Amino acid sequence: MLSKIDKTKFNTLIEINVLINSNYGDIHALLVQILESATRLCQSEASSLLLVNREKRELYFEAALGSKGSEVKNFTVKLGEGIAGWVATHNKSIIVNDVKNEKLHLKKIADMIDYPSKTMLAVPMRLKNECIGVIELLNKKGSGGFTQDDCDWLEIFANQAALAIGNAQNLEKVRNEVESLKEALGKDYHVFIAKSPVINEKLEIIERVAKTDSSVLLLGESGVGKELFAEQIHLKSPRAAKPFIRVNCAAIPEGLLESELFGHVKGAFTNAVQNRKGRFEAADGGTIFLDEIGDLPLSLQAKLLRVIQQKTFEKVGSDSSVKVDVRILAATNKDIEILVEKGEFRSDLYYRLNVLPIYIPPLRQRPEDIPELADFFLKKYRAETKKQFAGFSSEAMEEMLSYSWPGNVRELQNCIERACVIGRDEWIQKKDLFIKNTPYLEEQNGESGRNLKAAINTFKVHYIQKALEENNWNQTETAKVLDIQRTYLSRLIRELSIKEK
Ligand SMILES: Nc1ncnc2c1ncn2[C@@H]1O[C@H](COP(=O)(O)OP(=O)(O)O)[C@@H](O)[C@H]1O
Ligand SMILES: [Mg+2]
Repeated sequence: MLSKIDKTKFNTLIEINVLINSNYGDIHALLVQILESATRLCQSEASSLLLVNREKRELYFEAALGSKGSEVKNFTVKLGEGIAGWVATHNKSIIVNDVKNEKLHLKKIADMIDYPSKTMLAVPMRLKNECIGVIELLNKKGSGGFTQDDCDWLEIFANQAALAIGNAQNLEKVRNEVESLKEALGKDYHVFIAKSPVINEKLEIIERVAKTDSSVLLLGESGVGKELFAEQIHLKSPRAAKPFIRVNCAAIPEGLLESELFGHVKGAFTNAVQNRKGRFEAADGGTIFLDEIGDLPLSLQAKLLRVIQQKTFEKVGSDSSVKVDVRILAATNKDIEILVEKGEFRSDLYYRLNVLPIYIPPLRQRPEDIPELADFFLKKYRAETKKQFAGFSSEAMEEMLSYSWPGNVRELQNCIERACVIGRDEWIQKKDLFIKNTPYLEEQNGESGRNLKAAINTFKVHYIQKALEENNWNQTETAKVLDIQRTYLSRLIRELSIKEK
């Protein structure tokens, strides 16, 4: 027959087991709970749970209960030193019911915190037979000391605690694997299509910029290919074989961004169960691409500035500096100068990032890229949809060339993906594209913050090009139709680089 106290111990063990199997968050809280149960059930005054740090060859206090618990937590014990140290090196339990006369006893800590221990029970926490920590109980309540029965029970509790730690470590391992897989996926670079002279010029600039370690700020509307340019800078740099880490500052909630970028140490906040590497550390030796930098909160802007200037930062919840060798590329579709004026972006950070600004023009200003990109996306989605499209009908191509593409290459890509899904003919038809081709100027007027001169020039290019096409590129005829001087038309053709397609 089991005694009442044995029954309580069994029930407690079962409860702990359920907790271990359902707790994937706070390992520290779970260990404290195990220690509390063991302390209560073995009727002792105080207790501690120490973990082995193999690197430093010492034990540290993960948890300590009793009146002096909080003071004890600041101490460490060398492996082999004192009773806990002996248990850790011998991987054996020990009952000491006459602490005063025990040679092993380390009086140092007890004296320092003024906590006299009379009786003690210490058992190893074993994981795959290796001692990973020690649970100590101090001062058995009532008369008499700890018994072999107490020792047997405490060993069971200690093994449960070890199991909980094993689970947490496995979970962390899986998390790290997911992280490194994500990084490997990040190595999946895009194919870069470039036909227009302006994009090829930018690529030439990038060849030179890539060789340096300077920060680069990529500017331009959304969907113009800023991320692809960042990839090219990395791939053409001496860092190409090292990681290229992408972070979208606008996509991560503000509260998590600091830990995502810089990592955190265990216990820095409620869910920080384990130490975590941030994206800056992941990018060490390589390049980090900070997309939507205009959305970086002010508090992190200061931290980023320090990384650029001193190459060091602190993890969340830590005082010690981490040093990294990372090249920083940033991108934004916002007008950062306006953000600086409004006090939403630090001017010192802006100047550091803006050492090498590269502006990527919108798709409507480089129509030469449209057919190339369209063919590229057609091949891609033709394979995905398993349809055999031969190409675009001339009407469809014309439609794409005269559209303003406010969403730039991303919009073109989506448009062609949709056309591949919808299209039924051998050739993609105009109707498959679903382009709302509103007159160009009307659309421009509806949008604020755009450069009017650029918009008018783009309109001129399209308008003149159409007129020239209708008149078989006869400039005299075209000038008549447009009601302008022939000489003015040829100047416009030259200045706006209008070419026969
Ligand atoms: N030159 C290009 N060649 C091939 N694909 C491109 C090119 N430029 C942009 N894209 C495609 O367009 C989409 C948007 O590009 P992205 O770099 O994310 O734009 P941004 O960062 O400027 O918003 C991506 O899916 C990308 O693959
Ligand atoms: Mg982007």
